[in-house]
Amino acid sequence: MTDIPQDAPWYTSDIDSIIQPQSRRMLQEYAGIASDRIVEHIKVHREIAWSISPYPSVGALTWVNPYMLLHEAHKTILRRVKAGGTIVDCGCMISPDLRLLAWEGAPTNRMFAFDIEPTFFDLGFDFYNDRDKWQGHFIDADGTKPIDETPLKDLKHAVDIVWCPKFLHLFDRQGQIDNATRLIEMLKPQPGSIFAGSQNGLPETQDVTYANSRMGTGYRTIWMANAKAVEEMWNEVARKTNTTWDVQARLLDLRTIGMHEDDGSEYKRKTGYNLQWTAVWQ
Ligand SMILES: C[S@@+](CC[C@H](N)C(=O)[O-])C[C@H]1O[C@@H](n2cnc3c(N)ncnc32)[C@H](O)[C@@H]1O
Repeated sequence: MTDIPQDAPWYTSDIDSIIQPQSRRMLQEYAGIASDRIVEHIKVHREIAWSISPYPSVGALTWVNPYMLLHEAHKTILRRVKAGGTIVDCGCMISPDLRLLAWEGAPTNRMFAFDIEPTFFDLGFDFYNDRDKWQGHFIDADGTKPIDETPLKDLKHAVDIVWCPKFLHLFDRQGQIDNATRLIEMLKPQPGSIFAGSQNGLPETQDVTYANSRMGTGYRTIWMANAKAVEEMWNEVARKTNTTWDVQARLLDLRTIGMHEDDGSEYKRKTGYNLQWTAVWQ
């Protein structure tokens, strides 16, 4: 077990209030969990996830609600995957967003997901009860390494959509640019390919230094951006890769949709915004 205490400010105790209505329905209909078992089901699986990797977001249960539902490109992504498109989920953990798409009727056989902690893959099967029906592919890979040196090389120039949820924000600004530059190598190099990001952001761009070094990445300073800053970041990615993109970004205040309750803690102050962008290859 981890030695990081469960009384960390982000280790949410009120599980019931975290679960959004759609997530509740998804757990009932997709995973077959009875409504009166949902809280316990989440509790048990969070303990396991916490022992694998004590990310603040694991304690805060952000993985219970698929953030793709909040993303402006959600319907586009769903339509593309339903129509035969290939998607890869970066730093997937238990891949709530691919499960969302599956619940919404997308076939799973062209879904790929990778994480540096492969133990999460089994946890995902247990959490969603879909081991027998899942036809997608979970890949044990380090997304910070050159693609050609990892199992992700099999996906090089092969996917239509790179979905990047709460992954790039583990890094500083340069790290986000470097990793995005590598991850887009998985996209088919053609107009219409999509890189969609979703992560923590702030109205005023800020470097945030976390004392916790056990985040799997070795990075202690992470960059929290806003919509304008992410567009500028993408300009740098475009320059580095000699590519052209149409980028739409927005910072969504989670308080306005009832998904964030400030308790005054630093963690809550820094996690009240979802920064999302869609970069479409031109
Ligand atoms: C904050 S969690 C986000 C999980 C999930 N994407 C979500 O939206 O709930 C970050 C995830 O990135 C994974 N990760 C961290 N460093 C990684 C790396 N270098 N390569 C691949 N995955 C990594 C972690 O194991 C963890 O599952």
